[in-house]
Amino acid sequence: MKLLKRIKYYTKTLILIVFIFLHTNCKNNESSDLKTPNKNDAIELKINELLSKMTLEEKIGQTNLRGSSSRVNGELPEELKTAVRNGEIGAFLNVMNLEYVKELQRIAVEESPNGVPLIFARDVIHGFKTIFPIPLGLAASWDAETARKSSEIAAFEASSAGIRWTFAPMLDIARDSRWGRIAESPGEDPYLASILGKAYVEGFQSNDLSNPTSMAACAKHFIGYGAAIGGRDYNTVNMSEPLLRNVYLPPFTAAINNNAATVMTSFNEVNGIPVTGNEFLLKEVLRNELNFNGFTVSDWDSTVEMISHGYARDEKHVAELAANAGLDMEMTSKAYEHHLKILIEENKVSMDELDTMVKNILRIKLKLNLFEDPYIPEDHTGNLYADSHLEEAKKAVIKSAVLLKNENILPLSNNTKVAVIGPLANKPHEQLGTWTFDGERDHTITPVDAFKKANAKYEFVEGLTYSRDKTTRGFNDAIRAAKSSDVILFFGGEEAILSGEAHSRSNIDLPGAQVQLLNELAKTGKPIVMVIMAGRPITITNIINKVDAVIMAWHPGTMGGEALYDIIFGISNPEGRLPISWPKNAGQLPYFYNHKNTGRPAETGQFVQMDSIPIGAWQSSLGNDSHYLDIGYAPHFPFGYGLSYTNFKYENISISKDTITFSEDLIVKASITNTGKRDGKELVQLYLQDIVGSITRPIRELKGFQHVDIKSGETKEVSFKISSGDLKFVNSKMINAAEEGKFNLWVGPNASSGLKRSFYLKE
Ligand code: BGC
Repeated sequence: MKLLKRIKYYTKTLILIVFIFLHTNCKNNESSDLKTPNKNDAIELKINELLSKMTLEEKIGQTNLRGSSSRVNGELPEELKTAVRNGEIGAFLNVMNLEYVKELQRIAVEESPNGVPLIFARDVIHGFKTIFPIPLGLAASWDAETARKSSEIAAFEASSAGIRWTFAPMLDIARDSRWGRIAESPGEDPYLASILGKAYVEGFQSNDLSNPTSMAACAKHFIGYGAAIGGRDYNTVNMSEPLLRNVYLPPFTAAINNNAATVMTSFNEVNGIPVTGNEFLLKEVLRNELNFNGFTVSDWDSTVEMISHGYARDEKHVAELAANAGLDMEMTSKAYEHHLKILIEENKVSMDELDTMVKNILRIKLKLNLFEDPYIPEDHTGNLYADSHLEEAKKAVIKSAVLLKNENILPLSNNTKVAVIGPLANKPHEQLGTWTFDGERDHTITPVDAFKKANAKYEFVEGLTYSRDKTTRGFNDAIRAAKSSDVILFFGGEEAILSGEAHSRSNIDLPGAQVQLLNELAKTGKPIVMVIMAGRPITITNIINKVDAVIMAWHPGTMGGEALYDIIFGISNPEGRLPISWPKNAGQLPYFYNHKNTGRPAETGQFVQMDSIPIGAWQSSLGNDSHYLDIGYAPHFPFGYGLSYTNFKYENISISKDTITFSEDLIVKASITNTGKRDGKELVQLYLQDIVGSITRPIRELKGFQHVDIKSGETKEVSFKISSGDLKFVNSKMINAAEEGKFNLWVGPNASSGLKRSFYLKE
């Protein structure tokens, strides 16, 4: 296993890049609807024709996704060329040498028996060269257009390097900030994640896979990966089927309904069966229910890991289980390559099964138009780091930055003298975040770069050299700079490597001596603005009272510095809202706003704190319910939360009816007034609660939201429409239906507040 991990590590990190830096327009193919029957018919005919000519070996070859040849310096290895020539490989990942891409593709289309083209894949997760905020940050924008634009630009840039398939979007609902991969997730809410999932797919695939500047999307990791026990990566997942269907499945459904070309099976098991070998999930749910007609791919080694899971006996058994479960393509491991042939001869896997797998793969190759146009157009340079790309990346940071606290300090006035301090103030690589193989430090604008460029009055003293730095050597210098400034700007958080795959943390406080440094800085009496760059919520109850303002910037990407400069000096308003509940401490996890009520619903504000329990107290609940004695129940900041540089007042909620039937709509209205001095944008959120259900229902569920621009002093009326479709859920009989009864609704600024009304749904 160690060897495998090492190989994987080198494959991912040793990259050769050859790009043509020419600025030209790229060819615009005629747009075509992927679901147009005629076109699909033609595709199906072509698939059958190809299949009838392919040998068993060639068919098996299509199921092989091979690791990068870019590990190899110098010439393309002969054995790789031979394998492609023989039709033994269907796709590659991480070939980051354009000449290799071209040559491998040439061999496939010109020299392999049936000229089936290859697909080249890579993890282009939140940008290729121009890096956008990490996906959890993009989720904080609550903005489909931001997600769509970011993935469209990523596809445009990456496709110029020959990449026509990205392993994104990651659509795993994540409810535990200890999990390192929460950084890649769309957050904790299925409604928001579904909107984002659809938008990502639209952006990557440009609504037309045959467009050579698009990439096939890969909805991953199907499914439940975010529910790993204790936030420990790769861990076991146990969940009821209604939970799976109501919370974890919707973003995948949205992506697939929007033509996501591929789906990746997750590392985890669900209720005892690894997903990569899970026939129910891959065939029944994915194919029969969701009508997915692209191809499935395993995650890296997730096939052979079924042996460690204790589900498969050996590699041959792995191939049998995965093929019969409906796994079409195998990433890097070789169970299919080694055993599919014999399994077919032994009738353990049917020829029909293999044909279906190959058809699914060929279908996507055809939709990508690779048979007609296998090469990257010569004039497609990707416009890497184009001004328009950088502008969108900057906008995305502003839309995703969440203002968590502001004691009348932000925005700063132009002539404020600031001490820029902290381990992430000038760390281009760290601010790019997890999964950014291709973003370059030299193109990244840090906060210090932005202050320099703007000619701001600032002094930069790092204080700590990296986020885990425990030395206090730099403290005196930082304190000196703080004393001679008006305001301290502290850029802290986590380095990029502390979140992402296999990087879970049990303690999610600021690492290293950051809290210690902040405490020392607070002693100067100067106001402190803390900007957090991190892949997850960082618990800050230990420092929040010492700082005057907090901005969560996530890992903001290439344009982080400039965007943050604009926010800090009020050129822009921070617009982000939390896509995840922000915990008080890691012991409170998992925490999510859409939890159940329990038999003893927590009164979030009222509990007996442990320090006030009398010594020798008699055994009793003390009136507490589902609390922790030390921190109570509520999160530090609720889902949906985020401040603005102005204030908004919610009033006059009204509903059009007290009772609706299954075919009627309910209109909810509320007025929002900007009571502050600045213009601003409010994210108005609609939540529902189905009070009594045939299975218990969450205390609130997000069912709508709107971004509303409101000028200072202005009042705007916002209205939402609710129909019985919004009230549906999957019950214990797996029926997706709304049930009669009473519902609560709230219109408000986050999941813990809002104006409330109730209504009934009746036949
Ligand atoms: C990750 C996937 C990724 C794949 C290919 C795996 O380790 O779980 O998300 O797409 O590697 O790099």
